[in-house]
Amino acid sequence: MSALLEKIDETAAGIKSAFGTLPEILVVAGSGLGGFAATLANAKTVSYDKLKNFPVSTVVGHAGTLVVGECAGKPIIVMNGRKHLYEGVDINVTTLPLRALLRAGVKIVILSNAAGGLNVKFDVGDLMLITDHINNMAKNPLIGANLNEVGPRFPDMSQPYDRKLMDVARKAALKQGITLREGVYIAGTGPSYETQAEVQMLRMFADAVGMSTVPENIVAVHAGARVLGISVITNSLVQRTDVKTTHEEVTEVGKISGKKFTALVEEIVRSL
Ligand code: HPA
Repeated sequence: MSALLEKIDETAAGIKSAFGTLPEILVVAGSGLGGFAATLANAKTVSYDKLKNFPVSTVVGHAGTLVVGECAGKPIIVMNGRKHLYEGVDINVTTLPLRALLRAGVKIVILSNAAGGLNVKFDVGDLMLITDHINNMAKNPLIGANLNEVGPRFPDMSQPYDRKLMDVARKAALKQGITLREGVYIAGTGPSYETQAEVQMLRMFADAVGMSTVPENIVAVHAGARVLGISVITNSLVQRTDVKTTHEEVTEVGKISGKKFTALVEEIVRSL
């Protein structure tokens, strides 16, 4: 067994001993969306620093806790905050928590993030269903010896976000009266936000831009999990060009849209 898989399994064992049998549904809560975990009933929380090999995020707005509890009466697990590539660690480090959770039994992964709007029709505070993505990070978490016990060397990526789950999300949004935009998410490493020239380029290919989610999607698809992705549009990069993007704005809007996000995810989980 590879050293990486041994490390992943060591973390998976730690997660199992902390929580017992793990729920099959995981929600990864992005920037400013930490409030979602607080809505779980009968919650049990463990800090990342208590879990072996879990990288702790240094970013404001990322709690760094794993929470198991009930959402719409169903058991789920929430990764409250994530480590990003721009924090200066290897992509195998940022994706290790998710890989461990997948080894520990997670089958459905709901990824969320804060993203900048590239589609002029998207307003600040909108939620966007990720229909597809572009990896613009010049890094792939599957580079290196393949983990044959997890998935194939060359995984198909023609449908990285599960079509049935997308339908569930659309119906859930309708039921909750939430406008759900749809589009392509493009991920860069950050941490600098986009220049105007980069925005002009990126808007030709995608509807929203962020600094996460794509590596997580790749390891989840590799492991055979079903993935859903939701972006919160925390700022528009195209509606006005005289507005500066700040991390404070990103996390504040995340928090404000958090209620909508929680209502949507609750309805999705209810329908699963
Ligand atoms: N660019 C990149 N990542 C982001 C942005 C943005 O404008 N907003 C939130 N995450």
